[in-house]
Amino acid sequence: MKIIAIINHKGGTGKTTSTLNIGAGLARAKKKTLLIDIDPQSNLTEGLGLRDVKVSIYDSIKDDTALPIESISEYLDIIPSSLDLLGAEIELVSRLGRETILKRLLKSVEGKYDYILIDCAPALGMLTVNALVAADTVMIPLEAEYFAYRGIDRLVSIISDVRKHYNENLTIGGVFITKINPRRIITEQITESIKKYFNDKLFDTSIRINVALVEAQLKGVDIFEYAPLSNAAVDYANLTDEIITKI
Ligand SMILES: Nc1ncnc2c1ncn2[C@@H]1O[C@H](COP(=O)(O)OP(=O)(O)O)[C@@H](O)[C@H]1O
Ligand SMILES: [Mg+2]
Repeated sequence: MKIIAIINHKGGTGKTTSTLNIGAGLARAKKKTLLIDIDPQSNLTEGLGLRDVKVSIYDSIKDDTALPIESISEYLDIIPSSLDLLGAEIELVSRLGRETILKRLLKSVEGKYDYILIDCAPALGMLTVNALVAADTVMIPLEAEYFAYRGIDRLVSIISDVRKHYNENLTIGGVFITKINPRRIITEQITESIKKYFNDKLFDTSIRINVALVEAQLKGVDIFEYAPLSNAAVDYANLTDEIITKI
């Protein structure tokens, strides 16, 4: 079982889109996969068609109760989020053992999944720290823009802190580029500079810009179901293969 936290402190870099479609890709490869939405915005939860969530990850974090696992398909489950989670950052401040809550909750699913993917909020607060403490490895989606990795130093230093205090085996599994426009001339320069910065951590697969990804999320389905022949489906299938091989 591999637990992967999908993290970037910036919003809109493709964390949720990637968690959803990598999860669907892993499920298609018959890897039993659990997705965890710990972003109060609940985009992943909604992107998989879940509405009117009664019990969310917030309830488990607050009351230490069983994780509310919902089945999406034979190989894919999700633990939904809800807006209540917005309060969690503040409520956790006075809790003993606040960094390790998610790790402890996940003990109940030990051995039940091949992969667990955690979709983090664009923030480096206590919920993201919980994801890092629970995870084996981190994947960072970067937008194909200049300064895509501005502020990444801060993320890397939090990862080091978590490694030092809670999770000595935590690794950076990889970085991948999203929302690429291959026709834009500067795309190649941006890719080169990201490659230099992260050297062997950069995945070979980049995700091209494709409006089908936005449409699929609005419909509450993954890209393989919505547009199986699109380049977005091809890209996420390739990225999934790379993850299965490398992580
Ligand atoms: N490759 C892509 N092509 C086009 N739109 C994308 C792509 N990846 C993500 N998006 C869209 O960009 C927005 C932000 O993506 P999202 O995955 O929600 O980012 P994050 O979770 O990092 O904030 C969403 O509307 C999403 O549908
Ligand atoms: Mg998101």
